[in-house]
Amino acid sequence: MIAVLAGDGIGPEITVQAVRVLQAVAQIEGFTLEFEEALVGGAAYDATGHPLPPETLDLCKRSDAVLFGAVGGPKWDTVQPASMRPEVGALLPLRKELGLFANLRPAILYPALAEASALRADIVRDGLDILVVRELTGGMYFGSPKGRSEDGLSAVDTCRYSVGEIDRIARVAFEAASRRGKKLCSVDKANVLETSRLWREVVCQVAEDYPDVELTHMLVDNCAMQLVREPRQFDVIVTENMFGDILSDEAAMLTGSLGMLPSASLGSGKAGLFEPIHGTAPDIAGKDLANPLATILSAALLLRYSLGKESAAQRIERAVKATLDAGHRTADIAAAGSKTIGTAEMADHVLNALRATA
Ligand code: IPM
Ligand code: MG
Repeated sequence: MIAVLAGDGIGPEITVQAVRVLQAVAQIEGFTLEFEEALVGGAAYDATGHPLPPETLDLCKRSDAVLFGAVGGPKWDTVQPASMRPEVGALLPLRKELGLFANLRPAILYPALAEASALRADIVRDGLDILVVRELTGGMYFGSPKGRSEDGLSAVDTCRYSVGEIDRIARVAFEAASRRGKKLCSVDKANVLETSRLWREVVCQVAEDYPDVELTHMLVDNCAMQLVREPRQFDVIVTENMFGDILSDEAAMLTGSLGMLPSASLGSGKAGLFEPIHGTAPDIAGKDLANPLATILSAALLLRYSLGKESAAQRIERAVKATLDAGHRTADIAAAGSKTIGTAEMADHVLNALRATA
C-alpha cells in the first residue's frame, strides 16, 4: 500500500498526476497498487490542529512507501509554537520517525532542456548527471540543545553527528557510486567544524571497503563554487544534512528547473518517502501551472527503491524523456515566449507516451 500525502500549495495538483501515472504503469506491467490518502502539513493543521496527525504517521508506518507532495506556505509561517509549522512539525518528524536517514537527490540534465539550465551552453552541452546523497536525520536539523535563551536575546542550534550516523550514510553513497561512475566526493567544512573532521575520518574508514570507488574531499564553500564552475567533475556527492539541503538546490538549478527533480528518502529497510525537491509554490497553487514531472519522477523512484519494480520505473523515466523530446513544456522549463501547457496536460502527455510504448 502506498500512502499519498499531498500536503499544501501545488502538492495536491502534482500528486494526483503522479498517482495517475502509477496506476497506468501498473496496469501496463500487470500488477496492482493500492493507495491511501492522508492529511499532512498546513492542510492537516487546519483540519486537526496538528501538521502530522497520529493517523497520518500510523498510515505511513504501515505502508510500503509514501508519495509526498509538499508542505507549508505563508498561511502557516507565523503559527506558534514554531514546532507546529508544516515543515518542522510534519516533514522533519516524518523523516525521523520513519528512520529515513539517506536522501538521494539525482540532478540530471535532460538534453532537451539544456536551454533552461542556469549555466552557459558550453558547460552543460554534454549533459549532467550528479547524485547528491544527503544525510537526512542528523546534524543541525535535529541536534539539541536547540532554542531561545530565557531572555530571548540569543538562540542556539546544535550540530551533532555520531560515528554510526556517518558510517551508514557513507555506505549508501559508496554503494551508489560503485553502481555509477565510481567517483565519490565527500563534502564538509573540516577546516572549521569538529563534526566535519569526524565526518572525514569515518568516510575515509568506510572507503577501505570500497577500493573501486575514487574518494575525494571538498570543503562546502569550494563545492558550491565548483558546481557552477565545472559541474561535470562530479558523480556522487555525499554530505551532511544542512550542506546537502543547500547544495541539492544548487545542483537542481543547474539542470534547468527545480520542477524537474525527484528525491528518495530511505532508511535501513525498503520503505521510503518519495517527494519532489521543490516546495509548495503558493504563488501558482491551484492554477494548473505547476510542473508535475518532479513528482512523476519521484513515483518512478518509489517503484524502483521501495517496490522493486525496476522495469516500471524505467518506463516512467522513458515516458518523461519522450514528453520532453516532443517539446511539451510547463512554464518553468519553457524558453521565453514559447508555448506552455498546464499541469494536467503535461501529465496527459506522459500517460500517452507510456501507452505508446506499452
Ligand atoms: C528540503 C526542504 C526541507 C529541508 C524543509 C522544507 C524543511 O528544504 O527537503 O530540502 O530543509 O530539508
Ligand atoms: Mg531544501
